[in-house]
Amino acid sequence: MTQLIIDCDPGIDDALALMLAASSPDVDIVAVTTVTGNRPVEIAAGNARRILDLSGMAGVPVYAGAALPIDRDQARCNLVHGEDGLGGVDLGPAMAIEPGSAVLRIVELLTRHPEHSLTLAAIGPLTNLALAERTSPGVLRRLKQLLIMGGALHRRGNITPAAEFNVYADPTAAKIVLEAGARIVLFPLDVTEQAVMSAEWIGALSNLDTACGRAAGLMLQAYAARDPLLHDVCPIAYLLDRSLFQVQRCGITVECGPGAMEGKTIATFIGPLDDADAQPSILAAMSVRATALLDAVHAAFARLP
Ligand code: BDR
Ligand code: CA
Repeated sequence: MTQLIIDCDPGIDDALALMLAASSPDVDIVAVTTVTGNRPVEIAAGNARRILDLSGMAGVPVYAGAALPIDRDQARCNLVHGEDGLGGVDLGPAMAIEPGSAVLRIVELLTRHPEHSLTLAAIGPLTNLALAERTSPGVLRRLKQLLIMGGALHRRGNITPAAEFNVYADPTAAKIVLEAGARIVLFPLDVTEQAVMSAEWIGALSNLDTACGRAAGLMLQAYAARDPLLHDVCPIAYLLDRSLFQVQRCGITVECGPGAMEGKTIATFIGPLDDADAQPSILAAMSVRATALLDAVHAAFARLP
């Protein structure tokens, strides 16, 4: 059983990632923490709550975290997922989220649980994780695995020519986290741009005729026209079946700007997979068996309410 924290900014692909995690009998979602990213953190937290409730996960606590990037006084949100973050799909009012800060909750969970027992999937800007690392240096090294959707190694960015959105939204945080020495598996645009949804596949989710299938179908109607990619689903899918992905070992640094390169992720070296002593050492997913991924996600959704 994987004990999992999900740090997210729902976001439609975040919503699908939460649903995918909820579908698995092998995953115990310990907590969901939210951060300002696609939308401001209060909206993200409410959306996470709604999606978990829809997925039969009403017992999973949701915490709100950082409202602003680490060293900026303005958030860099986007409207790719609509004003409400869920493509205008009305999932009803959100139940209350937990009191207290997501950052302190992450620190507390990682400190309380035995070393290398918790896995964390970070699918929004990395502000909460960087603040956790600053609050308690070394805390991210206690993770069994830190799965991150972010960056673009050999690809053009998707928010600027140089940068991918999650890194651009808080480059300082990304640098702190990627250089923290944690056991990171990164899912950059290089791999997530291979995870393309087709209209037929979206239709098949809707046709499941379940609450989650219908919600996913509606959310994806508008989103897929803009960005038909299962970005945030990739780290969760890796957790469920590593064989879907091909990874390589590399060092990564982040350009913190300002300027045209701000938020760019740069692979400082690419080394053999077994060279675990190379530092900082990150596994980066570079390709995915896309058809198998889509089939696996569809099968998982068939298990959801
Ligand atoms: C990332 O940006 C967000 O819009 C998505 O939710 C995903 O986490 C892709 O660049
Ligand atoms: Ca996201």
